[in-house]
Amino acid sequence: MRILGIETSCDETAAAVVEDGSSILSSVVASQFATHARYGGVVPELASREHLRAIVPVVRLALDESATRLEDLAAIAVTQGPGLVGSLLVGITYAKALALVRGLPLIAVNHIEGHIHAVVSQNPVELPALALVVSGGHTHLYEVCDGFVYRLLGKTRDDAAGEAFDKVAKLLGFGYPGGPVVDALAPHGDPHAVPFTLAKMKGNTLDFSFSGIKTAVLRWTEARDLAAEVDARRALLERNPQPDVGDLLAVTSRETLDMLASFQHTVIRELLRRAVKAAEEIGARSLVISGGVACNTGLRRAAAATHLPYPVFFPTLGLSTDNAAMIAAAAFPKFARGEFADSTLRAQANLALA
Ligand code: KG4
Ligand code: ZN
Repeated sequence: MRILGIETSCDETAAAVVEDGSSILSSVVASQFATHARYGGVVPELASREHLRAIVPVVRLALDESATRLEDLAAIAVTQGPGLVGSLLVGITYAKALALVRGLPLIAVNHIEGHIHAVVSQNPVELPALALVVSGGHTHLYEVCDGFVYRLLGKTRDDAAGEAFDKVAKLLGFGYPGGPVVDALAPHGDPHAVPFTLAKMKGNTLDFSFSGIKTAVLRWTEARDLAAEVDARRALLERNPQPDVGDLLAVTSRETLDMLASFQHTVIRELLRRAVKAAEEIGARSLVISGGVACNTGLRRAAAATHLPYPVFFPTLGLSTDNAAMIAAAAFPKFARGEFADSTLRAQANLALA
C-alpha cells in the first residue's frame, strides 16, 4: 500500500513514497537554502516560484528512487496547511491534478500532524502520548489520543522556539537558519555564563513565550561593541554561505559563545520543563519531540539525561525538518478510515490541528 506524499508548506519542496504507513521507500527534499540565505529568512514570493520549478523533478525522483510507477500508488497525500499560502498552493494544485488524472484518492494532511507522525510511524510510541512540536513556526504541546485524536494543551504566545534561534542568529550576523549554527557553537560556550530568565506565565502555565529572551539577547548585544565580529561573520557568509564550525569559531568571541550557550540552555530547559509537566498532567505513556528544533543536539542530550517514567522519542535528523515522508505516513490512518479530500481542497495558512 504505497502513498505518495507531497510537502511544500514553507521552503522545502519534498516528495516521498511510504509503504504501509511506515516503510520509507524514498524521501526527496529540495532545499531552497541558497535562494533565501542572502535575505536572512524565507521570502514567500521566491519560495512559491522555487516550488513551481522543483515540484515535477522532485516527485519524479521520489517515484524513481522507490521504483514506484504511478499505477502502484494507492493514494496521494499533500500538506494542506499551516504554512505559506503561495507555497502550499503549488503542492496542492499539483497533487489534485495528479490525483484527478490517475483517478487516485487525495488525502489532506496537517503539517503539524506530519511532524508527529515522523515519530509515531517509526517508533513504538504508546498512547496517550505528549507531543512537543517545535519548529520555525510552532512550539505546541498536544495530547495524542487513540485514533490520532489531538488535544492542544499549550502553545507559544509569541515567537516559536525555532524563530527565536533564527532571530538571535540573524542579529549576531550568523545568517539563516540560525538553529543549526547556534547548536554547533553552543558546546564551545558556558551555558551558565549569562543568567537569562523567562517570563512567568499567567493563565495557562503550559504556554510558552520566547520574545522576552529574544529581547534580552538584543539588550545584551547593544551593551557590547560587537560590530567587528558581526561584520567578520557577515563577510565570511558572503564568501561561504555554509561555513564549518572552525570557520565560525575563528570569528566569534568567547563572550558571544557564552551567550549563545546560555540562550540555548535556557530555551531547552523551558521546552523540556513544560513538556514534562504536560506529560505528567495527561498521564502520558510516551513523549514525542518533533519539528526542526528537534534536531538540536543539546535538546536531545538534555531529554536523554532527564529520567522520566516513560520513553522519549525523537525523529531521525532527516525526518525532523520538513519532509514528505511524514506527510505520507500521517495519511496512512486517514486512508484506512476513508478520509479523502476532493477537488475543492484549499490551502489553509493557519490550519489548526486541534
Ligand atoms: O520543521 P522545520 O524544518 O520548518 C518549520 O515547519 O518551521 O523547522 C525549521 C526550524 C528553523 O527555525 C531552524 O532554525 C530550526 O528549525 N532548527 C534548529 C536546528 N535545526 C533546525 N533549531 C535548533 N537546533 C538545530 N539543530
Ligand atoms: Zn515543519
